[in-house]
Parts: sequence; structure tokens; C-alpha cells
Amino acid sequence: MNLPPVDRAQLVATRRDLHQHPELGFEEQRTSGLVAERLERLGYAVRTGVGKTGVVASRDGAPDGNSRCVLIRADMDALPVEEANDVPYRSSHPGKMHACGHDGHVAIGLEVARRLHAAFLPGGVKFAFQPAEEISNGAEAMIRDGVLESPAVDAAFGIHLWNDLPVGTVALMPGPVMASVDEFEITILGRGGHAAAPHQAIDPVLIAAHVVTGLQSLVSRRRNPFEEGVVSVTQLHAGHAFNVIPARADLRGTVRTFGGKFFDEAPSLVEETARGIARGFGGDAEVRYRRLSRPLVNDGRMTELMTGVAQEIVGRERVIAGIRTMGGEDMSFFLARVPGAFAFVGSAPPDKKGSPHHSPTFDIDEDSLVIGAELVSRTAVRYLETPG
Ligand code: NI
Repeated sequence: MNLPPVDRAQLVATRRDLHQHPELGFEEQRTSGLVAERLERLGYAVRTGVGKTGVVASRDGAPDGNSRCVLIRADMDALPVEEANDVPYRSSHPGKMHACGHDGHVAIGLEVARRLHAAFLPGGVKFAFQPAEEISNGAEAMIRDGVLESPAVDAAFGIHLWNDLPVGTVALMPGPVMASVDEFEITILGRGGHAAAPHQAIDPVLIAAHVVTGLQSLVSRRRNPFEEGVVSVTQLHAGHAFNVIPARADLRGTVRTFGGKFFDEAPSLVEETARGIARGFGGDAEVRYRRLSRPLVNDGRMTELMTGVAQEIVGRERVIAGIRTMGGEDMSFFLARVPGAFAFVGSAPPDKKGSPHHSPTFDIDEDSLVIGAELVSRTAVRYLETPG
């Protein structure tokens, strides 16, 4: 491997600059401008506007090398969170914050691009700087716009900085590691009336309460206990007055799985449960069900390759298997099309607990940037050097 050393100062400077200028999904104008400019300066062939605000950069391998191409993916978007940290690089955009570490992912992606461009590579490399991970459709938008074509991509790798783990550790395992993300919206249709004469009305509030209970029973009674699954009802709106039975109630929530029968059946189970209960009470229900993201599944061989690299960087005992989350990640769309692996890079300060992702006090230990950049650069080189 002939990679130049990681430039920690540059990594930190880039991450802090991005942290001060967070942009929400599909609004990453400044971020993608900065990314495209840096990549062009390095000498990559750059395409902008791939999946709206996404940026793609590629470089062919040596003429006598192999024809394989490896994709590195970094997500770029921030969250609608007001930052509560008092740090010099605090968000300067009110109500917006890099509260998930994607600022670090972009900085790492750019550092990997710099190092790989300076190295001899036996195959091609492509970078996908992806918009809108948090709203779950940036990856699909980039795939629709051809990020996996010309040149065709043979493998894909990515990381997430991870505050559940201390800096200096990496978590990686084959199979599903992040969950499918489904969203449902249910409208309960009753009949409005006087609170004192419920027999003249059909009470959607009572129906909604039973629907919530019924939906909770899906996990305990309709799912095989050996399959992972979560159903959460997160919104419930009905009524405007204490003495009026409203005509409708609206529910919203999410289903998470690692695939399998419960994943396949969830849309019909949610609909049957809501409508069946509503009709039992004399009302009805309309159900809208959307699949936002599929389970993220790590390929066995690619995970083994990336695990070997991680062990060289942080030491065998600091690479952990068994870390999974019911959170979603639209890297899953890339990994459903090409084999690859996605690793969690520990980013919590070693002595204290890190603030959770998406919280207003989220911050990372910046040593994790160096580990992330090493891991991704060396994984890409190792993949291209390994006979296919
Ligand atoms: Ni994230």
C-alpha cells in the first residue's frame, strides 16, 4: 500500500467548517459545492447534480490494472436540530445541526479521495457524496441518476461515526446490521357528536386507542419471536374541544425489521389491524404505508476484508462484532445492488459517554476522523488489490 499519511489537521478543519454550515437533505448546496471544488482540484472527473445535490467523482485504475471499480459513499446532510454545544465550531444556521456526524463523513470522504488520488491503484475508484440520508431517499435518487453505472461499480463501502462506541473501536459484522424503515399514516374515520351523547357518535379517539394497542400486539403476537421487529406509534392527533367527539383521528408511526416474513407482511398487517378494529367499532380507517429504506445487509466476503483492515488499524480486540441497530440507513440501497460493507467507527470520547446521535449536544471525538479515513482508504485499496 503506497498511501500518503492521513492529514489530521485538514480532516478536523474540513469537519468543523461543515459543522458550522449544516444543510438539510437535498439543500446541500454549499456542502456539495465545497466537495466538488476539492475533488476537481485533486484531479477527479466530477459530476454534480447526481440525485439533486449529490456529487460523484471517479478515477480509472492503472492501464495495466484490473477493470474493477470500488465505490466509497459519504452522506452529507444535517438535521433540523438546534445545537446546544458551546464550541467554536458551533452551527451558524439556526435550527440546523450536524447532529449525526455526517460532517465527519464528508471530511473523511474528501481525505480518502486525496490519499487515493496520490496512490497507485490497480483498479478504478468512485465517490458518492450523497444528499438526504436522514429523509431516506438520497441514495435512491443517486442510483436513479446512474451513480452505479459508467463505470459500473463492483463493490461499495461506507462508515458511520458511532457515539455508542468509544473512539478507537470499530464495529462490523456480516448480515443485516441496520433495519428497514417503513412509515405508516392512519386516518380513523368516525362520526362527530356531543361528548355527553356518545351513542349518537362514533368515537375515533376510542378507536385510535384500540388501534395503538392492536398495532403493539403485532410484534408480540403476529411476528415470529426469532425475527427482529419494532412497531412504534409516534403521533396521535384528534379533536379540538373537551365537549365534542371529533369525526376523525390521525395516527402515524414506523415499523423496523431486519427483513424476513414480518417485513413482508407488515403493510397488510398494519392495514388489516387498523381497518378491522375501526370497523368493529362502527367506523373505518384509511391506511397509507410507505417503505422508506430496506435493511442494510453486509456481504460476508466484503465484511471479512474490511474487518481485516480494521484489525490492522485499531487492533484485533478493538474490532467488535455484534453491534446492530433498529435505526435505518439508506446505504442499504447501494448494498442491495452491489456487495459491500458498512462499519461503525467509534466516536465517543474514551473517558465519558458520548451524547446520542440526533441530540442537540451531539459531538464526536475527532480522533475518530483519522480512524475512519484510514479504514476507508485502506479498505478500498485492499479490495482492488485482492484478486476477484
Ligand atoms: Ni446518520
